[in-house]
Amino acid sequence: MPDKTAKKCVVLGVTGGIAAYKACEILRLLQKRGMDVFVVMTKNATRFVAPLTFETLSGHPVAVDTFERPATWEVEHIALAKRADLFLIAPATANIIAKMACGIADDMLSTTVLATRAPVMIAPAMNTGMWENPATQDNLRTLMARGVQVVAPASGHLACGDSGAGKLEDVALIAQRAAEALEGFGKRDMEGLRVMVTAGPTREPLDPVRYISNRSSGKMGYAIARAAAKRGAQVTLLSGPVALQKPEGVDLVPILTTQELLERAGERIDAQDVLIQAAAPADYRAKEIAPQKIKKQGGAGMTLELVENPDVAAALGARKQRHQVFVGFAAETNDVQAHARDKLARKNLDMIVANDVTKPGAGFDVDTNIVTLMTRESSLALELMSKDEVAQRILDRVLELRRTCTGTHSIPGKNDP
Ligand code: PMT
Repeated sequence: MPDKTAKKCVVLGVTGGIAAYKACEILRLLQKRGMDVFVVMTKNATRFVAPLTFETLSGHPVAVDTFERPATWEVEHIALAKRADLFLIAPATANIIAKMACGIADDMLSTTVLATRAPVMIAPAMNTGMWENPATQDNLRTLMARGVQVVAPASGHLACGDSGAGKLEDVALIAQRAAEALEGFGKRDMEGLRVMVTAGPTREPLDPVRYISNRSSGKMGYAIARAAAKRGAQVTLLSGPVALQKPEGVDLVPILTTQELLERAGERIDAQDVLIQAAAPADYRAKEIAPQKIKKQGGAGMTLELVENPDVAAALGARKQRHQVFVGFAAETNDVQAHARDKLARKNLDMIVANDVTKPGAGFDVDTNIVTLMTRESSLALELMSKDEVAQRILDRVLELRRTCTGTHSIPGKNDP
């Protein structure tokens, strides 16, 4: 069994591209941060850098061939897969990305990464055309949706003579992201905090069989609730009707309408330290709910009279206490930043997570998102990433905001004046 009390173990996968030589520097930077690094190379990678280089730098044998006699009795790819605290592939070619997306395991690296349960991070490097190819982009989205973290390549002059996106990101930044991923894995920095999250759509009934709703799947809110619970928070999840499993360790409160969301949230808000509103409550409801199924009007058109629903975020914002951190979302299709800033102020939020829901890979019913985290003083645009990773970034920022507003993240009444 691997000794998990020892140094953190990074399995570094190296694939066959000109940037393979930069993996030597990544290895050294990871070692400087106190990590033990084991290298797995593809056959093509060995044409760019000799395994002996990585063997000498890492102090461990380099795995290349699945059928080589193993140095120990353990099946080598399984042993490495289990040993990893983080599996980093840098550089990652279009080929390994495609194999990972399809679950292909036909060499040592693809087999080992398929077998691992450790968090996986990839730093792609390739020609711009290959990077921009829809096949590569689809594969990346698939991997991100499964929780693989991607250090997107930089733009610049490439070894093939082209200029554009596809250059391996700065090695120091890759090492930094790897360190952060290792640090984040299993951290319990929200213990003692009460966090309420809203998720999913609301349903506003028209008659006994019909309703007004929207395309929210609940994935964003559930990712936040799951991440906060894993980080030790006591989480209440107010959820509209969705087809998702209840995250472990979370108190789930089902709601149906915007009015119900306001009531359930209102009953609980004073006891919370953090409120994160990822739900998409309907802004309007039917003025009258027909007691019977509405019949066709015999060819004539039909007019539904709607009345405005309460703004839950604004109502809760008006009750916000000094120690509380409130976060809202803004789902926008145009003038994203301006609309988000307006909502930040109007709903008395500390932060708003703006997503342009017209962008591929962002917003409703996908596993990824592209968001900008906006406070009154700052704006941080994040690249396309899985909703799980967006959730972690939001929580990191929430903790920073709590530190600046209270000097602590502990329970109100204990430390707050
Ligand atoms: O659920 P997914 O499929 O994963 O999709 C995620 C998402 C797109 C729903 C999510 O990322 C998101 O943007 N949620 C907010 C959707 C929304 O209603 O946006 P809005 O700009 O209309 O509202 C702004 C804020 O006010 C939101 O925090 C919303 O929860 C809140 N609101 C809105 C209307 C209302 N009547 N009461 C509210 O409290």
